[in-house]
Amino acid sequence: MLLKNCYKTDDFRKLAMQRLPAPVFHYIDGGADDESTLKRNTAAFETVDLVPNVLTGVDRVDLSVEVLGQRLALPLFFSPTAMQRLFHHEGERAIANVAEQIGTLFGVSTIGTRSIEELGRHNAPKLFQIYVHKDPALTTDLIERCKTAGFDALTLTVDAIVAGNRERDYLTGFTTPPKLTPRSLLSFALHPGWSLNYLFREKFDLPNVSRYISAGSSIASSVTDYLDSQMQRSINWEDAARMVEQWQGPFAVKGVMSVADARRCVDIGATAVIVSNHGGRQLDGARAPFDQLAAISDAVGGEIEIILDGGIRRGTHVLKALARGATACSGGRMYLYALAAAGEPGVARAMRLLQDEMERDMILMGCSAPNELNASMLAPRDQSTG
Ligand code: LAC
Repeated sequence: MLLKNCYKTDDFRKLAMQRLPAPVFHYIDGGADDESTLKRNTAAFETVDLVPNVLTGVDRVDLSVEVLGQRLALPLFFSPTAMQRLFHHEGERAIANVAEQIGTLFGVSTIGTRSIEELGRHNAPKLFQIYVHKDPALTTDLIERCKTAGFDALTLTVDAIVAGNRERDYLTGFTTPPKLTPRSLLSFALHPGWSLNYLFREKFDLPNVSRYISAGSSIASSVTDYLDSQMQRSINWEDAARMVEQWQGPFAVKGVMSVADARRCVDIGATAVIVSNHGGRQLDGARAPFDQLAAISDAVGGEIEIILDGGIRRGTHVLKALARGATACSGGRMYLYALAAAGEPGVARAMRLLQDEMERDMILMGCSAPNELNASMLAPRDQSTG
């Protein structure tokens, strides 16, 4: 598989599988327990079909949307994801560059591998993702650093206060930074391109937390151990409301699934609710964001921005989500496979393909802007609606 032959997310996934040592690939690719939620997140889009309108005179498409105070050129952005330099030595820098090229927002994880200060110097709109650690000084410090660095928006992730049960990681012996075990040694040896980059480029670090947590940077720890030992499980809605006050800017709660919780996001003054189950990596058996979207948009649509996160593999998945009431969509694996496969050119190609697909399919739907998509353009696959 070559980059020039990659046309869909699954092609980038295959290239990433070739390039990455198995423990790293399966960390990206895997989910919790039986991975039923991971699979459903994408399969849910197949439960409805698009119903286009023709002869609408559409000749131009403007995909732009307003999200978290920013005008994005397309209704799709980069979810914050951890450990990016482990997937490709460019890491978050590649994502920031592509975000700027295509005019979208990029998320940065608390346990990202490039610093708030470095990424703050990029021009694309920036969203910082907060994991609330046991040490409250760390959260305050992160928020202040984001303000100083010019981040545009903040999101609080609420669905990872304990680690999901990632059985693939146990089998492969995935740790961060990677540790050579007899099982993984062969896989690292068989992927010399990745291994040489890992060994001879910048030292692996989690620069946003390392001054507080040595486990983040110096001790080989699994993501599971990290989340289990460092996260503040007692976090509640009052803490979230306090964070909205402290930040005083566009704010999203990420990992909301219930209608009641979406309502609470409105009540605390959040700008956006990110409907997500953490890419099927946490609570297996959780409902898919797309399956839950209609209930949430019926309840709080118009009062808060609704971001559908998870399962996006095609531009039509985004169009279906918009028709069901989402303001925009975000995703992780959709760009992480491409990052692992080919760094910045890979991510640029993956996102351009998704953008082209959205533009083409909007024309085929008879729509010139995202707000023209609505629920009448979706039909359940198992019923005939004339
Ligand atoms: C994960 C966390 C760290 O899903 O976001 O691996």
